[in-house]
Amino acid sequence: MTGPKKRDLTKSNAQFRKAVKRLPLGVSSTFRYWGDDRTIYVDHGKGGRTWDIDGNCYVDYRLGYGPAILGYADDRVDAAARRGMEVGGVFALSTERELTVADRIAKMVPAAELVRFSNSGTEAVMAALRLARAHTGRDSYLLVEGGYHGLFDAAMWMANMEDWDTQSDRDPEVVSYGKGIPRTLKELAHLVPMNDYQRLEDTFRKYGNTLAAMLIEPIQGNCCAISADVEYVRLARKLCDDYGVLLIIDEVKTGFRVGKGGIQGIMGVRPDICTFAKAVANGYPIAVVAGREEVMRTFRYGGASHGGTYTAHSVSLAAAEECLRILDETPALETIADYGERLKAGISGILNARKIVHSYTGHPSMFGLFFAESPPNNYRDWKKSDYSFYDQMAYHLHDLGVICEPDSREPWFMCEAHGRDETCLSDTLKAVETAVDLTLEHFETEAKRA
Ligand SMILES: Cc1ncc(COP(=O)(O)O)c(C=O)c1O
Repeated sequence: MTGPKKRDLTKSNAQFRKAVKRLPLGVSSTFRYWGDDRTIYVDHGKGGRTWDIDGNCYVDYRLGYGPAILGYADDRVDAAARRGMEVGGVFALSTERELTVADRIAKMVPAAELVRFSNSGTEAVMAALRLARAHTGRDSYLLVEGGYHGLFDAAMWMANMEDWDTQSDRDPEVVSYGKGIPRTLKELAHLVPMNDYQRLEDTFRKYGNTLAAMLIEPIQGNCCAISADVEYVRLARKLCDDYGVLLIIDEVKTGFRVGKGGIQGIMGVRPDICTFAKAVANGYPIAVVAGREEVMRTFRYGGASHGGTYTAHSVSLAAAEECLRILDETPALETIADYGERLKAGISGILNARKIVHSYTGHPSMFGLFFAESPPNNYRDWKKSDYSFYDQMAYHLHDLGVICEPDSREPWFMCEAHGRDETCLSDTLKAVETAVDLTLEHFETEAKRA
């Protein structure tokens, strides 16, 4: 097999060479760097597709890591954002629309009795943890291995899977995400492997009285959409109650995506605090920290501080009002989930025809693809699985006009526009079929060489 014609990245390559002189790695977020020759620069996005500056068109399943829930440049949300621009931006004062949007959130998410806005997921989770600490008077907190809660120091502790020996019965070492995180913070962060009930109980027994909060993403949006069992989240809820710990469900990725009431609605578990960001305003920067009234009232003079110059910006707020209206009042989320189901069925058809064993994690609107009979149960399981097939396939998909995250830990995201444009599905499946064959060929060649 000779393989398809390589896409032309002449302009992106030239842009990279210029940009890297001014921007570290030539980008504004480290994860946007895909190598000197493969980093692409976007011209524009529309619906479920993105065009790079060389004119290559991609069906996009990264969707900016999830925000474009309706699709890029959605006419309805953009028109609302333009009206929001006429309001004037930020005033260091409040507008009536804040309550309108908060009311909508409270209607969709019953746990959101009170609502505060932030600008990004990081800010919202940072505020949630501060709120929990202020409310409980405790400093420590519990994280779940494989979870991601943004780029603030307290959340940047993780299980070091790179160096973990899967055969050993020792826990992976807890390390910081990169350098610059004060070592003194480490002792405040405790980590548990997801879906390990005994470990959760033991950890609460040992540290429960010192914990301010347990943070959990029941579908791990940065770890292949590996999902917690409902019983596991219920146990977390119970242990939090027993030990006076606040349960923070981080729905930055799942919120207003997997269901109107998020993953907490699907699982029927009510957190004390929850956080939202990505899908709130179809990509306009706004985030939400919400929760139980008694806890949220700790945001006050003399309590936990919260605010920021750009909080509840009139453009983002107007976009949020329209985006949430669409998600609440139209079948957009059904369209998204239905597309995800059809895409999974199509991919399975291709893989089954080649007898490639596989499985899926997460929700149809954000799913992970695994080349194993059953998906991993937690991050430790992921380490034991073979993700090399995915890595190679993702590499080919980019060349074939499909953007998925090259790192198998990032799920595929669906948007409403994918479901409304039948060519998205057919183009994707054509590309997947070719990418799978190229990947098989790659491994056959490697095997022959070995
Ligand atoms: C679950 C979760 N929490 C928090 C964040 C941080 O959000 P942001 O990138 O908007 O700061 C992310 C980002 O991907 C996330 O997935």
